[in-house]
Amino acid sequence: MPILEGKRALVAGIASKRSIAWGIARSFRREGAEVALSALPGRMLERAEAFAPEIDAPFCLGMDVGSDESIAQAFGQLKNSWPRLDILVHSIAFAPGDNLKGDFADSVSREGFRVAHDISAYSFAALARAAAPLMTDGGALLTLSYSGSTRAVQNYNVMGPAKASLEAVTRALAMDLGKMGIRVNALSPGPVKTLSAAGIPNFRKMLHHYEGAAPLRRNVSLEEVGNAAVFLCSEMASGITGVVLPVDAGMGAVGLSFPD
Ligand SMILES: NC(=O)c1ccc[n+]([C@@H]2O[C@H](COP(=O)([O-])OP(=O)(O)OC[C@H]3O[C@@H](n4cnc5c(N)ncnc54)[C@H](O)[C@@H]3O)[C@@H](O)[C@H]2O)c1
Repeated sequence: MPILEGKRALVAGIASKRSIAWGIARSFRREGAEVALSALPGRMLERAEAFAPEIDAPFCLGMDVGSDESIAQAFGQLKNSWPRLDILVHSIAFAPGDNLKGDFADSVSREGFRVAHDISAYSFAALARAAAPLMTDGGALLTLSYSGSTRAVQNYNVMGPAKASLEAVTRALAMDLGKMGIRVNALSPGPVKTLSAAGIPNFRKMLHHYEGAAPLRRNVSLEEVGNAAVFLCSEMASGITGVVLPVDAGMGAVGLSFPD
């Protein structure tokens, strides 16, 4: 039997068919879940609506996680269709472009730091607060981090501190929501070519570096990230909460490896 049969999942963060959110949505559907999508209102939402039939998504929600009103409105709509929710995926990040150019020390600004943390880290707590009351039969929350949270990564700049914050949010939510039977975890993929990734200077070089230096000597696919998400959000991971699971072809295990 597909391992997410009977589960209802909201996957937030669709921007294109390269989005990690889309990879996860497809894997969830393959495993029998009913999957609804959410995207930034406007062009992103139109795209999500265009993709929705491919995974039989019953509805798509417009949601700007920078706005409490928008979050409340989206979850109000969700509740009308689904009184119970089992899984929420937060696949959302943003930092102003000028904070991703040049050195961290030169480019980081008070406003850029605030926005990056608001949209990329605080929003997971905000979505968890909105989703938890609907998880009446327990549930799983999942977010997407990156190893720039624990190690300095060139060009990742202000997103490093934002991902460190997101991982701390994941642990704090896991501690508090565990008593409601809600598990909270993060995946930490290696580089995947998506719209957000295109905003990171020299991203191609990063992909190339992983290909040469990661133990598996390659990058990871959207499907591999989606499959890890299926695992963490399924009963197969019922004893796991508060973790950050790398899906990085082993790169996190390496201290120094000379690229081939
Ligand atoms: N691509 C990678 O190499 C990689 C690696 C590790 C982690 N991640 C993480 O995966 C997640 C998804 O990113 P992606 O690479 O799929 O890129 P993506 O551009 O496809 O997805 C990012 C999403 O965030 C959404 N977003 C930004 N601001 C928003 C707001 N205010 N309200 C609602 N949505 C908003 C965008 O619309 C987009 O859908 C991010 O958290 C990213 O940091 C990506």
